[in-house]
Amino acid sequence: PASGPTDLVVFGGTGDLAMRKLLPSLHLLDRDGRLDPGTRVVAVSRDGLTAADLRDKAAAAIRGHHEVNDPDVLRRFLDRLAHVTVDVGGDPRGWNDLADALTPGRDRVFHLAVPPMLSGAICRGLRDAGLAVPGSRVVLEKPLGRDLASAREVNAEVAEVFPEADTYRIDHYLGKETVQNLLVLRFANVILEPLWNSRWIDHVQITAAESVGVGGRRGYYDTSGAMRDMVQNHLLQLLCLTAMEPPSSYDRDSVRDEKLKVLQALTPLTGDRVHEDTVRGQYGPGSVGGEEVVGYLDEAGGPATGDTETFVALRAEVANWRWAGVPFYLRTGKRMEQARSEIVVRFREVPHTIFPGADGLPGPGHLVIRLQPDEGIHLTMTAKEPGPGAPRLRPVPLKLSFADTFDTRSPEAYERLLADVLAGDPTLFVRRDEVEAAWRWVDPVIAAWTDHHTSPEIYPAGSAGPAGAHRLIGRNGRTWYEQE
Ligand code: BG6
Repeated sequence: PASGPTDLVVFGGTGDLAMRKLLPSLHLLDRDGRLDPGTRVVAVSRDGLTAADLRDKAAAAIRGHHEVNDPDVLRRFLDRLAHVTVDVGGDPRGWNDLADALTPGRDRVFHLAVPPMLSGAICRGLRDAGLAVPGSRVVLEKPLGRDLASAREVNAEVAEVFPEADTYRIDHYLGKETVQNLLVLRFANVILEPLWNSRWIDHVQITAAESVGVGGRRGYYDTSGAMRDMVQNHLLQLLCLTAMEPPSSYDRDSVRDEKLKVLQALTPLTGDRVHEDTVRGQYGPGSVGGEEVVGYLDEAGGPATGDTETFVALRAEVANWRWAGVPFYLRTGKRMEQARSEIVVRFREVPHTIFPGADGLPGPGHLVIRLQPDEGIHLTMTAKEPGPGAPRLRPVPLKLSFADTFDTRSPEAYERLLADVLAGDPTLFVRRDEVEAAWRWVDPVIAAWTDHHTSPEIYPAGSAGPAGAHRLIGRNGRTWYEQE
């Protein structure tokens, strides 16, 4: 459904996320004619900004994000913005000002772009001020809590005010075009699904490697680390989409029910298995793309506990009929040599080769789903090199590049997700039971690291991560997939 005129209220509306992602994405939606002419954006913060200040700040953020070709469209977008000062948990007068800024009878969306511990107080404030009218939606950002107990608490506080059907939990990876394409690839083609199981797949690798460091976010990151920041949400969501059974339809509950079953089927990583099947790393000084960079401990901002991981590799198992015995290797890190996110499915060897004297073996096939950069799909096939005599076999890729194939612009994750919230479609948002199931699996890993004082292994910035990650996958004679 298309969205009608909506009051979109953004708490944290002058903060980093609003400026870097939300407002630029909303501007793009507006430019493409996808915002109702009556939709307003009310930025809420403690700043006491004037409307003019907010518009200047927003205009600069939008221009910093993408090129603005039509100043009239930008002006029209800026005219939709208003600012209200609310001190959540402090002076109650702000809530009245917010009430005055909203129009009765329109759809309401409250986007909480704030740390999760504020969610409860904001929802209560909205309820007490009579603003959370039936049908209002609430949008929550990650991290949703820092463990199962705190996630449950946040979810429960929000649920006192907003029913689950109106609660939209963002995992922006689900808004990426390539991630949605994974479902289309799996369920709109017949050739993959018959092979998509332990009989034909040897293992799966899911990598989200970044070349950036933590930047100015060390205060947050120090309390989080890569396990909570990336694995609990983005990587596990990718694992779910890769491993799930075909849902009966593409709708809010069918898709999320199937993802939940995958999370519930993950073999718990506890005790000695944590030591064997996980690796923590932290970047030291090094050089990325020819530039010397400092190590994590020397990054500016916030106190360092010294013990935060900026890299995780682990081996997970989905204990069900389809996947028994197929390892899923997950890996994510900051300050890696290359920024690259991809899912690699490695097929098994052929059961019998008829080319025993061939030069080169029938190599195992890989299917690579590249999420970023160079979005696309590669399938390696074994082919014969032209020439006489015994066949020379060589793996060659079949390549599909989305940029070369489609000439339409790929919308950004937040554009897609904000449009879905405005239209009231929660399919690409994470349900409460999924978030909690993900924490239930992640918690014992973090607990075991803490109990055993597992220090992160230092890797030089700009490298392929700590040696332990290569040992982890190498134990079964496997290696991390490297780009061809
Ligand atoms: C965020 C994490 O959720 O995802 C960041 O908090 C990370 O630490 C970012 O950099 C990565 O997103 P993307 O879209 O750049 O892969």
